[in-house]
Amino acid sequence: MQNSTKYILAIESSCDDTSAAVLANEKVLSNVVANQEIHQKYGGVVPELASRAHQQNIVPVVDQALKQANINKNQLSAIAFTRGPGLMGSLLVGTSFAKSLALGLAIPLIEVNHMQAHILAHFIEDKTQKTPKFPFLAMTISGGHTQIVLVKSYFEMEVLGQTLDDAVGEAFDKSAKILGLPYPGGPLIDNYAKEGNPLAYPFPKPKVDGLNFSFSGLKTSILYFLQRETQKNPQFKSENIADICASIQYTILEILMDKLTIAVAQTEVKRVAIGGGVAANSGIRQRLREAENKMGWETYIPKFEYCTDNAAMIGIVGYLKYLNKDFVNQSVVAKARYVI
Ligand code: KG4
Ligand code: ZN
Repeated sequence: MQNSTKYILAIESSCDDTSAAVLANEKVLSNVVANQEIHQKYGGVVPELASRAHQQNIVPVVDQALKQANINKNQLSAIAFTRGPGLMGSLLVGTSFAKSLALGLAIPLIEVNHMQAHILAHFIEDKTQKTPKFPFLAMTISGGHTQIVLVKSYFEMEVLGQTLDDAVGEAFDKSAKILGLPYPGGPLIDNYAKEGNPLAYPFPKPKVDGLNFSFSGLKTSILYFLQRETQKNPQFKSENIADICASIQYTILEILMDKLTIAVAQTEVKRVAIGGGVAANSGIRQRLREAENKMGWETYIPKFEYCTDNAAMIGIVGYLKYLNKDFVNQSVVAKARYVI
């Protein structure tokens, strides 16, 4: 009898994480992520350094993914890679690698949109987690993205709103930087916020129509507020760090929940899924759980390792496209801007 299991090797290199995964159909056999620590001392991702690190990491990361999955490269059915959106120099590394390996092994090549992958990560086989039914709303929140998407089927998606300037993760990280916290500051703000009063310092919410977001004004108002208070009391930041972080986080969560509430009202879709690195935030998780009880939403949050940038999410899209025989040829090129 023919073995119907398809083994997909997936490559992700859109930003500052080099990742490779092997999937057996919808199941993840390995998901290796090499983080690039180099950016920490610059307080943000430096594109030139990111592409160089990808080039250094890609072969060992793929090698490790195959070993961990206990799969020989000759058993692979196809190779899926992130075509975009992302940093061009970073995308080129994964794209070129995937093309060469697919050519060498004479197997199909599958291009994947990174934003679709964040959403379809919910379909990775995971017995501990439920999977949303269509249609559902997906909010992708990370250091690079802030988007609300209406997902009608695997490959029928409509972007309802997105950020007009900074991503929500940047709002966390830039606020943390103003507070003198190391990069990436999102998880640190989350931790301090647990001990603080979220209503201690009210920050203004931006007025943006519809389902779009804006975070750059918030960052500026936090900066001015801290400058004013530090003039009066040089120890203001250190003495009130928990209350400041709780207030910043509260404002950001209010912005996200306000938009989600509008999206649910507009679409009458009450299934709400989130993804992206900021989905790790304990506050947003709690707010979603509350929305289940208070507003009758069904909410979905993938495992943390499938929220942040990872190749397993590229692999699940690769598998779904494999079933549709949705392959690309060797002339495919990376796309820094790539709308869903
Ligand atoms: O998805 P991700 O790993 O990379 C991309 O940006 O695509 O997301 C990283 C972002 C950073 O901005 C980081 O500060 C934020 O996610 N983040 C958090 C938390 N954990 C990660 N933000 C708030 N609270 C957290 N617990
Ligand atoms: Zn991402």
